[in-house]
Amino acid sequence: MSKMDVKDKGIFLTGGAVGIGRAVLEALLARGAKVLFCDIDKVKGPETEAEMRKQFPSGDVSFVPCDVTNADQLKAAFTQAVTRFGAVELCINNAGLMDEQNWERVIAVNQVAQIRGSLMALEHMRRDRGGRGGVIFNVASINAVYYGVWEFPVYTATKHAMAGFTTSWANSPDSEAHGVRWGVICPHACLTALNAWERDGQVYVKMDEVKARDTTNWLTAKEASYAFFTLLDDNDSNGGLMKIWKENGQVFQELLMMDKSTVPITDLYAKYKKVQPADQ
Ligand SMILES: NC(=O)c1ccc[n+]([C@@H]2O[C@H](COP(=O)([O-])OP(=O)(O)OC[C@H]3O[C@@H](n4cnc5c(N)ncnc54)[C@H](O)[C@@H]3O)[C@@H](O)[C@H]2O)c1
Repeated sequence: MSKMDVKDKGIFLTGGAVGIGRAVLEALLARGAKVLFCDIDKVKGPETEAEMRKQFPSGDVSFVPCDVTNADQLKAAFTQAVTRFGAVELCINNAGLMDEQNWERVIAVNQVAQIRGSLMALEHMRRDRGGRGGVIFNVASINAVYYGVWEFPVYTATKHAMAGFTTSWANSPDSEAHGVRWGVICPHACLTALNAWERDGQVYVKMDEVKARDTTNWLTAKEASYAFFTLLDDNDSNGGLMKIWKENGQVFQELLMMDKSTVPITDLYAKYKKVQPADQ
């Protein structure tokens, strides 16, 4: 295992104003990274930028207001990072939301924008097209590796989608030529605004049950940020899904690696056909 040293590296982060993104931002700056973060929150964004500048006076941090669902805004923010740093070597697609009533918006933020951000970063980083290589992390959720999460089906679907997308690119036969490492961050429930549900329908849990939730083993945003650095420090983790959760007050992490020996789809069909006659 060897580390990706983020010191003096140019980093692009979405959704860095609050929550997990903000905790990652702070930890990156503490490691000497240069970070441009974007967020839709035009109040918290500049506040966080000011607080980070105070905390890291010699650091390089800047905020760009951006709705990641707006392709032009996302591209402009990414381009600003490239211009500022010369190159972006780590891209973290983190912005997300949970709202089953506004499920198309959830897909737009959690899935479409993360895919767009990933493809933009890949195009920029690819060594076979003159880039410096780099790392792309998509922030999913532990729900990416769970089935049957009835409380928030669309949210869960977007997280499965990002696990599928990210591991698929990581498995590209041209991966070496791209020089790009991919990772999926999969935290369990965290104490952030995303989970502070306030109205019926936002998730399929009744409000009185929401109020009675036991959050003892929920992660703080800072604890969730550990997963980014464990994954970042492991250069052999291309395509890895980093799970992070808490049990009895202790934080645990587990790296799930995709199975590269996946049965070719034609064989799967063959097996399916074989079981059919016996079933009928
Ligand atoms: N909180 C949890 O329990 C939890 C667990 C696992 C994964 N996650 C994932 O972690 C990521 C961060 O979530 P969080 O818990 O820190 O939530 P949060 O609500 O605290 O922060 C999300 C950030 O994304 C920003 N954002 C939302 N929509 C945006 C848009 N259209 N354009 C730009 N910025 C936008 C918000 O303004 C906010 O700053 C999300 O992808 C979320 O799905 C959260």
